[in-house]
Amino acid sequence: MSEKKCVLVSGGAGYIGSHVTVELLSAGYEVVVADNFSNCDRTNYEGVCAITGQRPPLEEIDCCDAKAVEGLFSRHKIDAAIHFAAFKAVGESVEEPLLYYRNNLTSFINILQAFANRGGGNVLFSSSATVYGEPDETPVTEQSPRKPATSPYGNTKQICEDILRDTVSACAGLRGIALRYFNPIGAHPSALIGELPRGIPNNLVPFITQTAAGVREVLSIFGNDYPTPDGTCLRDYIDVVDLARAHTCAVTRMFEGRMREDYEIFNVGTGRPLSVLELVRAFEKVNGLKLNYRFAPRRAGDVTAVWADPSLANRELGWKATRSVEETLSSAWAWEKHIRGI
Ligand code: WQD
Repeated sequence: MSEKKCVLVSGGAGYIGSHVTVELLSAGYEVVVADNFSNCDRTNYEGVCAITGQRPPLEEIDCCDAKAVEGLFSRHKIDAAIHFAAFKAVGESVEEPLLYYRNNLTSFINILQAFANRGGGNVLFSSSATVYGEPDETPVTEQSPRKPATSPYGNTKQICEDILRDTVSACAGLRGIALRYFNPIGAHPSALIGELPRGIPNNLVPFITQTAAGVREVLSIFGNDYPTPDGTCLRDYIDVVDLARAHTCAVTRMFEGRMREDYEIFNVGTGRPLSVLELVRAFEKVNGLKLNYRFAPRRAGDVTAVWADPSLANRELGWKATRSVEETLSSAWAWEKHIRGI
């Protein structure tokens, strides 16, 4: 029998990383979780253990420390890495650009260097629909042009995609996939892992669930005068478990030698646009509650509408988003209640 493949999940104790760890373990892969706990606590790691009945090795390291990354690669035989260890707050990145460039680029370079030192490997990069900016046409395909980034955070996603592309082309044994996530929301159906934002949430769904829980008084809907059917922005909200499954499919594609090019890009979205107002109403309906919300001015930097054409991922990865927005929003609320003890 062939040996199990081992996948490093950097940032594996975070929101998306923990869901990906669950899916990888369930698919029979070995996982090494690396996290420096700079933006999360141990809740999700413990949740992963409870869900899977396994305790994947936890390496408490900072991926910006090249020696520590090298040490990790010498302790474990890593076949692939999925890189999540990055900062992700758009506004903070505008105030602290160097923090974002240093952290997001250095950690990724160190992981690529460790593979290059070993003659290659498989790397999955956690990219974002933010690279499309305000698209000229919707839905966006992987061929849609990338737009100049409007924040240092967005720029780090573009630069890391380019670093991966260039390193793959220079290193014969290295393969890379960038997954461009649309708007990941929701939580594991067990309610044992989910998003744990620190402070005031920037993203819509944690703000909604915190408002429903009474932690926030009122949800501000940023702008109702956009050129969309109900005046609020359109996004492609993708369930985090569906998103996590896309990673398992992509890693398996690499291991099975099914890539068409050594560097590939896939949109990971549902292909279904939803407005902020539609999302709020769906949340109220499925969870049987009323949300306190008001309309507020537009938020600087928001694009009007962006959603995915996910057909490339559907076809090539054999992956499709399956969870309904109702299931997802009920999982988001179940998670909020779980962490608040409601
Ligand atoms: C969604 C919609 C807001 C909060 C960002 C990043 C992206 C990705 C996901 C990182 C928008 C509206 C929000 C609120 C609101 N990566 N909104 N009231 O901006 O599409 O994408 O997060 O984490 O790179 O840019 O997601 O959830 O912030 O906003 O009305 O309190 O909800 O204006 O239309 P966004 P979001």
